[in-house]
Amino acid sequence: MEPIIDVIKSRRSVRQFLDRPVEDDLIAEILEAGRWAPSGLNNQPWRFVVVRDRRRMASLAECTRYGAIIRGAPLLIAVFLDEDVMYDHTKDTLACGAAIQNMLLAAHGIGLGAVWLGEILNRKAEVCRILEAPGSMELMAVIAVGHPAPGGSDPGVRRDISEIASSERFNKPIF
Ligand SMILES: Cc1cc2nc3c(=O)[nH]c(=O)nc-3n(C[C@H](O)[C@H](O)[C@H](O)COP(=O)(O)O)c2cc1C
Repeated sequence: MEPIIDVIKSRRSVRQFLDRPVEDDLIAEILEAGRWAPSGLNNQPWRFVVVRDRRRMASLAECTRYGAIIRGAPLLIAVFLDEDVMYDHTKDTLACGAAIQNMLLAAHGIGLGAVWLGEILNRKAEVCRILEAPGSMELMAVIAVGHPAPGGSDPGVRRDISEIASSERFNKPIF
């Protein structure tokens, strides 16, 4: 098995996809990765809606300035927080984030590309209406998934560890 750090570091957001559906067994694997995320009290507050219908996707594309990504993707996974099982909004939101990252990594691990779409939250209510979400559902993100188009992605850029971690207290270098 490839070391997990290599999988984490080689994952990049993919925004262009081949015109090819994502196979059901691959969708199942991505959802399984989301299902196994950690959550406070193990309350598993996430709910996933898989969207493949082009007309519904076209409506969702209208809800974000990243609509072109949605229009070019064969599959979306909308991630909701179910407020009926929520115990702490921050912790449950973080748990949904863990589920989303698990799914991004799983997609990458099976050769798919994916991107976390957050800007669409500006129009949460419209997305909920399009997906016929019950009132207890709060939109957390939409993930666009597909077989990556050729072209490759950049190596990625991150802050140096010295900028984001310290030892014992803030402002004391870690190494
Ligand atoms: C909370 C969140 C919201 C994001 N929203 C968007 C978005 O609306 N549109 C988009 O193209 N990418 C979005 N991204 C992807 C980021 O732009 C991307 O993860 C970041 O630039 C780092 O690039 P990488 O994922 O390739 O390492 C989002 C990522 C996160 C974590």
